Amino acid sequence: MDDVEVNRVFHDHECHYYDERFAIVHDARSARRARREVESLLGRSLRAGEVLLDVGCGTGWLAAGVRRAAPEVAVIGLDLSQGMLDRARAAGAWPLMQGQAGGGTGWLPIATGSVDLVIGRGVLHHLPDPVGALAEWYRVLRPGGAVVLSSEPTPIVERHGDVLVRGMLAVLRTPLEPEAEFWELAAMAANLHVFSCRELQAMAAAAGFREINLRTAAVAATLVLTASYVLHGRQPEIARRLPWRNLESASRMIDSVVLDRVVPGRWRHTVIGRLTR
Ligand SMILES: C[S@@+](CC[C@H](N)C(=O)[O-])C[C@H]1O[C@@H](n2cnc3c(N)ncnc32)[C@H](O)[C@@H]1O
Repeated sequence: MDDVEVNRVFHDHECHYYDERFAIVHDARSARRARREVESLLGRSLRAGEVLLDVGCGTGWLAAGVRRAAPEVAVIGLDLSQGMLDRARAAGAWPLMQGQAGGGTGWLPIATGSVDLVIGRGVLHHLPDPVGALAEWYRVLRPGGAVVLSSEPTPIVERHGDVLVRGMLAVLRTPLEPEAEFWELAAMAANLHVFSCRELQAMAAAAGFREINLRTAAVAATLVLTASYVLHGRQPEIARRLPWRNLESASRMIDSVVLDRVVPGRWRHTVIGRLTR
């Protein structure tokens, strides 16, 4: 099985519990947040008639959310996993395409220069050839169009996550069934890369982007979501009693108001930003 197939099989399984474990809700409040997230990374408001391509759209948090909060733009969702796409459709995302987000020039079934924005939210680290994928996203963008990138893991998130998970497992003492253990290993196998900000900047430049605005962000939010993921996997009854959505919102606020300002850049957990063609 190659890396793409590992990702397809894993995400076809993960789609059944993805939203619950990542505290994803598809409602009007989330829709407004999805729109704000795109606009804040883009540095401007969305414009009527713009075409967005959400590559690796997953269960459609962003594709369905932006469609709901900004009906004046079109959002095309693309994902490798049919299971993820089924959930995105149920959440209100449309139109949707099954396909690969990377893979070489001409791989995306989208005409050259036809898209205003490409959204890559937590997908680049799943792709075998990130530079090739960025170059393909560049191809489909109109001149002046942009890629909005978020949730790409930095090297430090693995170390911090490891400490948190080890601590939780020591307290929980819940051995996994062999099948659940298999899927935990599959999750690790599907995560192909971590990126420092500098590495991603170099990749974006190699893919041809002329203006690169990337930075690192998030500490508390990633730890809260990691804790949610682990607890739901080991003790779902307990996990379901906790207010993950509120915890996640609070942690995002703490990140943006405090931690993203005081924690050194290389200690933050994700790379986010904008690449302009
Ligand atoms: C971490 S999820 C992110 C989903 C969504 N963007 C979000 O923010 O919730 C990664 C998504 O990328 C998709 N994916 C993985 N490899 C892919 C590939 N080669 N082409 C297209 N999608 C892929 C997975 O199926 C999954 O839905």
